[in-house]
Amino acid sequence: MSEYAEIDLGNGSRSKLQILHGTEGPSAIDVRPLYQSNGVLAYDPGFKSTASCKSAITYIDGEQGILRYRGYPIEELAKKCTFTEVAHLLMLGELPYAQALGDFTQTIHDHNVLHEQVLSFYNGFRRDAHPMAVMVGVVGALSAFYQDLQDYSKSEHRHKAAIRLFAKMPTIAAASYTYSIGRPQRYPDNRLDYSSNFLQMLFGRPNQAYEVDPVLAKAMDLLMILHADHEQNASTSTVRMAASSGANPFACIASGIATLWGPAHGGANEAVLKMLEEIGTPANIPLAIKRAKDRNDPFRLMGFGHRVYKNLDPRAAIIRDMTKAVLKHLNMENDPFMAMALELEQAALADEYFIEKKLYPNVDFYSGVLLRAMGFPSRMFTALFAVARTSGWVSHWLELKNNEHGIDRPRQIYVGSGLRHVDR
Ligand code: SDX
Repeated sequence: MSEYAEIDLGNGSRSKLQILHGTEGPSAIDVRPLYQSNGVLAYDPGFKSTASCKSAITYIDGEQGILRYRGYPIEELAKKCTFTEVAHLLMLGELPYAQALGDFTQTIHDHNVLHEQVLSFYNGFRRDAHPMAVMVGVVGALSAFYQDLQDYSKSEHRHKAAIRLFAKMPTIAAASYTYSIGRPQRYPDNRLDYSSNFLQMLFGRPNQAYEVDPVLAKAMDLLMILHADHEQNASTSTVRMAASSGANPFACIASGIATLWGPAHGGANEAVLKMLEEIGTPANIPLAIKRAKDRNDPFRLMGFGHRVYKNLDPRAAIIRDMTKAVLKHLNMENDPFMAMALELEQAALADEYFIEKKLYPNVDFYSGVLLRAMGFPSRMFTALFAVARTSGWVSHWLELKNNEHGIDRPRQIYVGSGLRHVDR
């Protein structure tokens, strides 16, 4: 039985709008008739109250701190699955077993090498180029290499493009790091799992064997799972908007990488480390909290706050615990950055401003501390996030291509000059 909301538009007319419900989460008022029937727009800059689409991939409850991929709680996926299994779940809708996992892994192995000419692209960048700048450029250029995948109305073309992107992203990210330090690129080693392979491409040298530390490989796999998808965040929404125009998937994912780079989004993990370095010592934490609360001070507590979570980001809790375990494994239990992060979290969570505004640590707060301990330069943190989020981006691309609704084209409230004429 359909439900409706009736609203008075203030110009003597009323509009009867249907109320839509999903499996879980907030309901939505279908405002599509507003403009079609009444010539009135809905206004929501920042989309704080807007559902841009229907999706079956990820569910978030910000009040409860709930995150589920295809119905499975993130805590269970983190504990019981590998990132390859989670990527299969996101892209194809189900956790793979036996044969399906073997087939999926084989398709990744078939597509994780880069065309040699793609590797020559890197030479066009300065050695000190930010890895995200390199990744945006290289991924966007992949559309020039796959002329055979032009007809995305065909499901097999769509899935081949999605797999190519998912399989190649670690190779692309690793090359953006090794290029920056002048180390020859190692090729993928298909005897290894996805995350171990990524680590050997990042840190292995071409002239000697590289022993992947199983504890670090597990930590990397867990980070990949936690960063894989997150509903309609800014970068995923960008991918979907680009996809709605019919742009090829490589260009769509490049637009997602560009959006993720922002410090308010995926760039926050790098910004957290810079913030911890800027704070310097625990003695400066009260001043940092004071500055973060001052609306006239641009200083923000990076890694804190979230548009959806008004409770602890469930990913932050898992990463915090994993960081402690990895630091212990690396005999770095006295890591100053971890000590500072823990003390900063305690101070913020006890402060009225953060309590009242429901600002908690998010996925980026501890990930930088962990990645630094694992040997990553801070400029690579967001590149790692992009590798993980590629599984989510291509899943949303596939979902949109399977349910196309036409080009996304928001309107505006025009506040510029009225009609005037050139008088010369
Ligand atoms: C990610 O969307 C996703 O799902 C993203 C992500 C994903 O997986 O894709 O989860 C990944 O991007 C995590 C967020 C990483 N960004 C940061 O850690 C940067 C620091 N955080 C803030 O910039 C902010 O919290 C946002 C951008 C994350 C959310 O901003 P909102 O929802 O627009 O909230 P807001 O800016 O309107 O803030 C509400 C109030 C404001 O105070 P008032 O104007 O009401 O007085 O809270 C304050 C803000 O000033 N506030 C902060 C703060 N975050 C918000 N004050 C101090 N420090 C902060 N970090």
